[in-house]
Amino acid sequence: MLPRTILILMLFAVAGPAIAATSAAPIQPGETEAWVKVDVPFVPTPPPVIDAMLKVAAVGPGDVLYDLGSGDGRTPIVAARDFGVKKAIGIELNPNRIKDANVAAQTTGVTDRVTFIEGDIFKVDFSDATVVTMYLFDQVNLRLRPRILNELKAGTRIVSHQFHMFDWPPDDKVMVQGKVPVYFWVVPAKVAGTWKGTVGLESLSLDLTQKFQMVSGAVRLGAMKATISTAKLTGAALTFDATVKHDGADEPLHFDGQLTADALTGALVIGGAAKTITLQR
Ligand SMILES: C[S@@+](CC[C@H](N)C(=O)[O-])C[C@H]1O[C@@H](n2cnc3c(N)ncnc32)[C@H](O)[C@@H]1O
Repeated sequence: MLPRTILILMLFAVAGPAIAATSAAPIQPGETEAWVKVDVPFVPTPPPVIDAMLKVAAVGPGDVLYDLGSGDGRTPIVAARDFGVKKAIGIELNPNRIKDANVAAQTTGVTDRVTFIEGDIFKVDFSDATVVTMYLFDQVNLRLRPRILNELKAGTRIVSHQFHMFDWPPDDKVMVQGKVPVYFWVVPAKVAGTWKGTVGLESLSLDLTQKFQMVSGAVRLGAMKATISTAKLTGAALTFDATVKHDGADEPLHFDGQLTADALTGALVIGGAAKTITLQR
């Protein structure tokens, strides 16, 4: 008969969506383990993986970090102790893990910046996050995806230990110790649509389509139309290239800008000359 912890780890390796599970952490003498229905059992992230997760997201003093399903609180605690975040919050369903996390935060001396919320990651508001960390299942990530894409600010960094997001490709991926994948995404701004403005006396319009951070489309400058050849959207920062026929010659066009409120503002370089432009949807 295999010990319970090994059975839970085997279940985790298979990585199907969890149904009902409980903590794999040892129960202390006199403590009653809380049996709560969770989407993923407790399996702690090893310290080198936490370090890699926080490094790939370039976590620092300006950040508000949420760990979704925070277990014993190790990720928020390391984010505060070693990366100096402004605020780190763990959201966890299991009250025993919340208890462990609060004790660990106290022992580490980070209670001024680290808090734990006993609640469900599908219900608790985490929209003030600048960084979100997760060690869940890919199916759980998929269920969280609409909240991540629609409730978080463009530019919020998301890091997942081991599990991906299906057809939302990562912006970066690192392999820890050559074997453990850590995936990194930046929440993309919503740039799809038709944008209009002027460059000097000529009208400029952009028709953009978007799937996550992948952007394609066409640019129209006066009577000229060109397909965007390469585009890159990172949070609210958009760059793209196209080639337009301008005064009878092929001219490379490059845009480097930002989505702010509902305007796309940036530098348009055409024929070697840069102009600041503002486009409206
Ligand atoms: C694999 S552990 C990861 C723990 C910690 N984030 C780490 O990396 O060490 C997943 C945690 O998510 C918690 N959890 C699962 N479903 C949850 C839910 N719907 N809401 C909040 N916490 C949940 C579990 O109790 C467990 O502690």
